[in-house]
Amino acid sequence: MRDTVSIDEISSFCKRKGFVYPSGEVYGSLAGFWDYGHLGVELKNNIKQHWWKQFVHMRDDVVGIDGAIITHPKVWVGSGHADHFEDILVECNSCHIRLRADHLIEDTLHIPADSLSAKKIDEILSKHKVKCPSCQKGTFQPAMRFNLMFSTQVGPVTHQSSKAFLRPETAQLIFTDLRLVQDNARQKLPFGIAQAGKVFRNEISPRDFLFRSREFEIMEIEYFLHPKHFKKCPFFSSIKDRAISVLSAEAQQKNKKQKITKIGELVRQGSLKSEWHAYWLIQMYDWFLSLGVSEKHLRLREHLPDERAHYSSACFDIDYAFPFGWKEIHGCADRTTFDVEQHQILSKKDLRIFDEETKEKVIPYVIEPSQGFERAFLAFIFEAYNYDKKRGYVVLHLHPSLAPYKAGIFPLVQNNDKLVLYAREVYVRLKDRFVCFWDQGGSVGRRYARADEQGVPFCITVDFDSLKDKSVTIRDRDSTKQIRIPVSELVEVLENLLAQKISFKEGGKLIN
Ligand code: GLY
Repeated sequence: MRDTVSIDEISSFCKRKGFVYPSGEVYGSLAGFWDYGHLGVELKNNIKQHWWKQFVHMRDDVVGIDGAIITHPKVWVGSGHADHFEDILVECNSCHIRLRADHLIEDTLHIPADSLSAKKIDEILSKHKVKCPSCQKGTFQPAMRFNLMFSTQVGPVTHQSSKAFLRPETAQLIFTDLRLVQDNARQKLPFGIAQAGKVFRNEISPRDFLFRSREFEIMEIEYFLHPKHFKKCPFFSSIKDRAISVLSAEAQQKNKKQKITKIGELVRQGSLKSEWHAYWLIQMYDWFLSLGVSEKHLRLREHLPDERAHYSSACFDIDYAFPFGWKEIHGCADRTTFDVEQHQILSKKDLRIFDEETKEKVIPYVIEPSQGFERAFLAFIFEAYNYDKKRGYVVLHLHPSLAPYKAGIFPLVQNNDKLVLYAREVYVRLKDRFVCFWDQGGSVGRRYARADEQGVPFCITVDFDSLKDKSVTIRDRDSTKQIRIPVSELVEVLENLLAQKISFKEGGKLIN
């Protein structure tokens, strides 16, 4: 089912159920901006918290920061974004719509156009006589470069000197705070700094629902290594034999298919210069797997040399098989020493950090695992979404750690005060530990259906027997099986079920 569901269906499902709304819809909405509803905000927090727990709290070598969204404008000069962070656009001569040139070529001519120059774009559009897809009439003005940073004014005076930018990536705040963080957190090389937060990119044509929007969140780590000893990673032996589906740069250039490759092989042949790069790719790949994404929907793709960002010497994406094609959900770049070096030159400050082992001051080498939060959100929703023919509605099979509500609590009927009161008692007890919801409207079947559509892993029904035996029924979203357990054991059993420490059958007495 997952393969046939379209992005439009997912977008309308997300709106109908309270995951995501077009922002400002009462005024016609603003392209590329989205609001998260009551379920969306919980799913969003769960994704971010899971990522943060795994990659910051569970590690000794990574600490976090939360930088400002608007920072000193020179940060973006030093980083190269002021000059290089751009896409190429074309404007229709007739209706004057502005389109992202590479998307126009890919959509109309079905040829890869990610890294074409403005001159080449003009040649291709003219050779193939491409017409404007909006008015079907016009041809295009010469292609132009367009910087993707949003600008604003800081303070009451509108002047060139008060112009600032909303951050287009979180990484730079990590680089500019590096020395302070290393000193205060007493970190020794190698170590990482993580950040998760909003970024803004003035995309020429936002599209595919959350996939390409103008305001989104990034979760990323800058992992710092000694500039002369960045190749060897002590954990490499445990991952080097991992066989993974890879679309290499060479395969792309020769129009060949992806093949299964050992990650160690990519290091041996030099596609990945540092074992740390391989290590971080696998950590992130496994994070998606651990949260329920199927391996057959994931692959690694090596960036073509002319496709890489200005700061990167090698980059691999983790792609997800969306119904609209394989698309990036994670990018892991080898940023070399580029960024800190640039900030040191522009700021004229000594930004080197001290390496305990070699007793030298160095500009560290950087590996950057980075991902757009919304893309992970979309991949998890696509993976979970299933129209269940037997049940006659959508079941959202979200991983329990991600599910917005962990349990639904229902009194079997709503017109019996004693029963409702006891169910309420159970609800209050659970609510203290898990995000739960209460539902007493309509038949139990209808309530199960509502819960399944919201991805609630377990539903607890309090019935007339519960008043006598102080037990309740737990129903499993995925199998629809039910177990009966004493209320006194409910918190512990639910905790174990949600953590997948026990199977559903092990939770209690199976009753269907
Ligand atoms: N820092 C990586 C990115 O912005 O794509």
